[in-house]
Amino acid sequence: MEKIKISLYTLLKSLSNAQDLISPILSNHHQQVAYMSFHLAQEQGFTLQEQKDIFLAGLVHDIGAISKKERLDVIEKEAFHVNHHAFIGAKLMGDFKPLANSAKLIKYHHLPWEHGKGTMYQGEEVAFGSHTLHLADRVCAAIKKDQNVISQIPKIMGEIVAKEGSIFSPGAVQALKSIYKKESLWLDMVSDDPVNKINFSIFDIVELEMEDIIELAHIFSQIIDFRSSFTARHSAGVAVIAEKLAFMVGFSPIECQMILVAGYLHDLGKLSISNSVLEKPSKLNEDEFNEIRAHSYYTYQLLEPIPQFRLINEWASYHHERLDGKGYPFHIEGQNLSLGSRIMAVADVFTAITENRPYREGMTQECAIMTLENMVAGNMIDERVVTLLIDNYDMIDALREIAQKEAEEKYAQFLTLYI
Ligand SMILES: [Fe+2]
Ligand SMILES: [Fe+2]
Ligand SMILES: [Fe+2]
Repeated sequence: MEKIKISLYTLLKSLSNAQDLISPILSNHHQQVAYMSFHLAQEQGFTLQEQKDIFLAGLVHDIGAISKKERLDVIEKEAFHVNHHAFIGAKLMGDFKPLANSAKLIKYHHLPWEHGKGTMYQGEEVAFGSHTLHLADRVCAAIKKDQNVISQIPKIMGEIVAKEGSIFSPGAVQALKSIYKKESLWLDMVSDDPVNKINFSIFDIVELEMEDIIELAHIFSQIIDFRSSFTARHSAGVAVIAEKLAFMVGFSPIECQMILVAGYLHDLGKLSISNSVLEKPSKLNEDEFNEIRAHSYYTYQLLEPIPQFRLINEWASYHHERLDGKGYPFHIEGQNLSLGSRIMAVADVFTAITENRPYREGMTQECAIMTLENMVAGNMIDERVVTLLIDNYDMIDALREIAQKEAEEKYAQFLTLYI
């Protein structure tokens, strides 16, 4: 198999949509903000590079707001603690080179202008683009989904203009004043796919190499996992185990990298599950159970628009399918489940039963082996893959431990930043 290359825009757009699954109120918020900030930047004469940076920042700007409540809080009101999610978002994205500039914009995307004081924050210079991103965010948050968008323009503009100088930078507001009369702008924003209304060809296509894709998938695995202490280390474990099993069955180096990415993203659709269900201590009712089970369907839908991810998506999204056809959500039967999907299913089950969770210890080796063997006997998971895992149990379990310990340390760091 050849190396895969993918455009940063395509990948980030899919991942950005995942963030908005968390509530219908958020639907398209990230795409809208990306669209609006790009137009405000263009109007202010930002350089092409700056336009690109702010556009990408818009696509992931609220990534640091982890719970559903927080997401809704940051969109519906600007509370004083709102910088937290911005700082966390900047930290998450800051290590990823192609988004290093965007991370700087994300960091201060809620900082008030305060008649110029907002050009600095605690001795650090605040990028001008942060204030444009701030304005774009508030304009998009003000749009009510149940009302005609054009009819809302006067009210939204009135609110924004009243805060010119105090909350919003005059430069950004000026740009909005020069473009707001175009109905097309607002109609684009409430369309299904605002970002696609931008002509990308003005930017040079940023192509990601496999190493970058792995890094971005790893960042997203943290966003998926860190929503709850119940899941905080899960994807990290699944990813390394799937990669190891793939190597042992003879996957090529590029296929091993691809399955690592699939492992990081396999639960991407879990972003659609509310925290109350994710962390419910008692038995789930039918609706809650069904809400959880839908997650691998959403993983599939989110990754589907990326053509280069066809195999990655299959391996990631079929992790709850079973050989007897009784898995979910597609009920694919054995002969149609590829080896990569079978590996992912085993990696997911093994990680789930052996990892410690706040409410229970992971299974002992004896119990875990028995569980896996029972599942093989019940024609649920692949015998060859399970045998390989059992024959190398200690080595694979140690790998899981190392990866999950690392994730746990990051999670702890993240919590201190968070409070
Ligand atoms: Fe925000
Ligand atoms: Fe936002
Ligand atoms: Fe899952």
